Amino acid sequence: MSNYSPAHTATATLPSATTTLHVLVGTTGDNALHAAQAAADTLASHFKDTTVTRLDSSHGIAVLASETAAPGAPQTSDTVYIVCSSTHGAGDVPENAQAFLASFDLEPAYLGHVYYGLMAMGDSTYGDTYAGGPKLLDAKLADLGAKRIGTVFEHDASEDDDAPAAARAWATDWIASWAKP
Ligand SMILES: Cc1cc2nc3c(=O)[nH]c(=O)nc-3n(C[C@H](O)[C@H](O)[C@H](O)COP(=O)(O)O)c2cc1C
Repeated sequence: MSNYSPAHTATATLPSATTTLHVLVGTTGDNALHAAQAAADTLASHFKDTTVTRLDSSHGIAVLASETAAPGAPQTSDTVYIVCSSTHGAGDVPENAQAFLASFDLEPAYLGHVYYGLMAMGDSTYGDTYAGGPKLLDAKLADLGAKRIGTVFEHDASEDDDAPAAARAWATDWIASWAKP
């Protein structure tokens, strides 16, 4: 696929001793949760703390805005995010991520200080709606100025039934692509 816009891709500097990783997960059947946890485990040694949060109806855009550092230095202090989502309905985010997605329109905020990795999960047998959920999230984040770090983890359930293994491999490459300070 690889049709994610490179336009808002940022080069991140390797995390400092104070950087936290927060992984936000949209999932219905826990495939995305298991992939997110595998990525978080792989990345944990690079961060001060690593948290995996299964999104729910109480989570809006504030989950990003409340924890970030001053503009210009988020990748070397405070929090870096990974947004990990599967696709449900017809190219939509899972139900547990609906409130999070809707909040981008309800409570718009400038997210220029937010840096995130993207884990995009779907099933290509669904055709045009393939991985539509994470694409919606990526577009909203880009609209508000957030910067995506590195390559996108793309998981097609029709091609691979071991998402955690693929996520571990992606996470290793993802962190290796960060620039040295
Ligand atoms: C009811 C249902 C609808 C789905 N719709 C789509 C879809 O529109 N596009 C897509 O790429 N994948 C779709 N999928 C596939 C899931 O995104 C994929 O199996 C994913 O790995 C599920 O992850 P999860 O268990 O974390 O939700 C759908 C799956 C189900 C069960």
